[in-house]
Amino acid sequence: MIKVAPSILSADYVNLQKDIEKVEKAGAPYLHIDVMDGTFVPSISYGPGFVKAIRPITNMVLDVHLMVESPEHILPMFIDAGADIIGVQVEATQHIHRALQIIKNGGVKAEVVINPGTPVAMIEPVLHMVDQVLVMTVNPGFGGQKFLPETVDKIAQLNAIKEEKGYNFDIEVDGGVNDKTVVDCYKAGATVAVAGSYVFNAEDPSERIKALEDATK
Ligand code: DX5
Ligand code: ZN
Repeated sequence: MIKVAPSILSADYVNLQKDIEKVEKAGAPYLHIDVMDGTFVPSISYGPGFVKAIRPITNMVLDVHLMVESPEHILPMFIDAGADIIGVQVEATQHIHRALQIIKNGGVKAEVVINPGTPVAMIEPVLHMVDQVLVMTVNPGFGGQKFLPETVDKIAQLNAIKEEKGYNFDIEVDGGVNDKTVVDCYKAGATVAVAGSYVFNAEDPSERIKALEDATK
């Protein structure tokens, strides 16, 4: 069964605590927080203060996805804010190894993220040091986009490397995930699925979380 990470990008910001409580009660183990800087991606979302405000109201794993250009200097702020996992886009930094070191040295789980147009080879040299790899299944920047099936092969490639080398990182997918698209991701080796609009644009988010879990049993 896949671990579901609801993305609050599609939540109701005015009633955010209620939405967070709903998905926690439904048993979602992760809460996915999308940080967008208006440069690496066109949108602007929220910063470390937001993570800090959420930290005391939930026990879910705070899975922070930085869509931020040259993130090195802001990593300490997200570490201090109480993130459990911090993901950095390989395309956004000239120093991916250093960025991951900063996260790990801060006692936080380190994740490397690749866009749909980025090959797995780009991150091979850092796979030994990560706790999670995020394969973007849409181009980052917005919720509610259509899943790109050509990204599934990269999940399988990562899973093969993981088995061959005995690594134990989680493989997360993000973008266009629903009860159909999650199946191929899971079969290819994904262990964590981010879902924004599918979970929050529903009458009952808990049913959607259950549907993702049931589809991957
Ligand atoms: C996209 C973000 C996603 C987004 C996913 O840039 O990284 O986490 O919230 O939204 P859906 O599930 O609606 O595609
Ligand atoms: Zn994300």
